[in-house]
Amino acid sequence: MSNLVVIQGSLNKKSKTAIIVNHVSEILLEKGIEYSVIDLRNIKLEFCDGRKIEEYNDDLKSAYKLMKSASAYIIGMPVYCYSVSGVLKNFLDITCNSMERKFAGIICNAGGIMSYLASADLMKILSYEVHVLTVQPIVYACDSDFQNGKIGNQKVINKAKDMVENLMSLV
Ligand SMILES: Cc1cc2nc3c(=O)[nH]c(=O)nc-3n(C[C@H](O)[C@H](O)[C@H](O)COP(=O)(O)O)c2cc1C
Repeated sequence: MSNLVVIQGSLNKKSKTAIIVNHVSEILLEKGIEYSVIDLRNIKLEFCDGRKIEEYNDDLKSAYKLMKSASAYIIGMPVYCYSVSGVLKNFLDITCNSMERKFAGIICNAGGIMSYLASADLMKILSYEVHVLTVQPIVYACDSDFQNGKIGNQKVINKAKDMVENLMSLV
């Protein structure tokens, strides 16, 4: 079990959130930090309806167990309608009890430059529901920050490094 779980929250096959998650994974590898990835494209999702975690499918139970064993998270959130995407919110509705009183870094990926505060919705959800402390900086990127399938903006790359350092200083 690893101490850090990275959650990739987009279902898009060509996800840009996943591009940043991959970049952050490379930073973690360079630093010799053990981590596991939960990519929501690779697990079978169900809708949250208030069941106990034991009553969800094996993928969700495994995700919960992995998250419970971790002390920190990096969450990649696509911005939909100026907030957390419904898919990621649903995943957190099912699993977030595993995160109680731990730490998280946020990758927030949007289409435009104006949706930065969508990340505040995720901070609020994690803080109010499970007392998760989120670190700064938020890694925010939008369409114009990508070139040829890679991050093309050095500011985004620097923030990813700073976010990882600040998060790991807490665990
Ligand atoms: C339903 C929907 C709603 C969206 N709402 C916003 C929005 O409010 N603000 C914004 O900047 N981009 C918005 N976008 C654009 C996405 O944030 C953008 O496509 C981003 O790359 C999604 O992440 P992904 O590529 O990892 O799936 C929206 C996209 C969809 C499909």
